[in-house]
Amino acid sequence: MKILVVSYLPSLQNSRTKNLLDTFVESVKNKENIETLDLLKDMPDFITPEILQAYVHRNYMGQNLKPEQEKYIAKLDKMTEQFKSADVVVIAYPMYNFSVPSMVKAYFDSVMLKGETFDTGAKGFVGLMAGKKALILTSSGGVYEGEYAKYDFSTTLTKYEFEFMGFSDIKIVKAQGLNMKSTDVAKVIEVAQQEVKKIVGDWNL
Ligand SMILES: Cc1cc2nc3c(=O)[nH]c(=O)nc-3n(C[C@H](O)[C@H](O)[C@H](O)COP(=O)(O)O)c2cc1C
Repeated sequence: MKILVVSYLPSLQNSRTKNLLDTFVESVKNKENIETLDLLKDMPDFITPEILQAYVHRNYMGQNLKPEQEKYIAKLDKMTEQFKSADVVVIAYPMYNFSVPSMVKAYFDSVMLKGETFDTGAKGFVGLMAGKKALILTSSGGVYEGEYAKYDFSTTLTKYEFEFMGFSDIKIVKAQGLNMKSTDVAKVIEVAQQEVKKIVGDWNL
């Protein structure tokens, strides 16, 4: 059993999202199952023309790459290999401008590789990560419910990306409204932490 914890928390010790992630890690019984990837320290590549060409030639056209082309996609491959090796993937990040921070998007762009985490079949796209679980931990300044739910391009995106890759069980824990005067921030975080603990228990981690 391997749990991969991917985080992008630039507020460091002041991060409110970190409260959810810390609760997750504390609640896991076998902490030796946890492997971490801190995107602040190990940044994913953005897709350059060289990376794109190497990826398309190899993963779509089935061509062998020259050593220098392999070098271009080495980081994508390393992150994808680590991602695929996990049974549970946890991703923790704050909402930025209604979506995921660009570093988190670059991470998904790095691991969503054809022939690795998804493929194309006779009936269309097929996720290759069946049987695996994903947990999205996030926080936002506003509340995205009711008529405002449509402005949450963060968890709608990450949830769909996991679905697309075939993850069988995807859970989301959000601490919302943390920058609103009317919010009892401590209470919202506490409720979210309880949700995290329940998921860890239900998943028997
Ligand atoms: C660059 C930036 C952009 C943000 N954009 C949004 C946003 O679009 N919607 C929102 O509700 N909150 C937004 N926020 C607020 C954060 O999502 C919120 O404060 C969150 O709790 C921060 O998490 P952290 O404490 O883990 O860093 C933004 C914050 C920053 C720094």
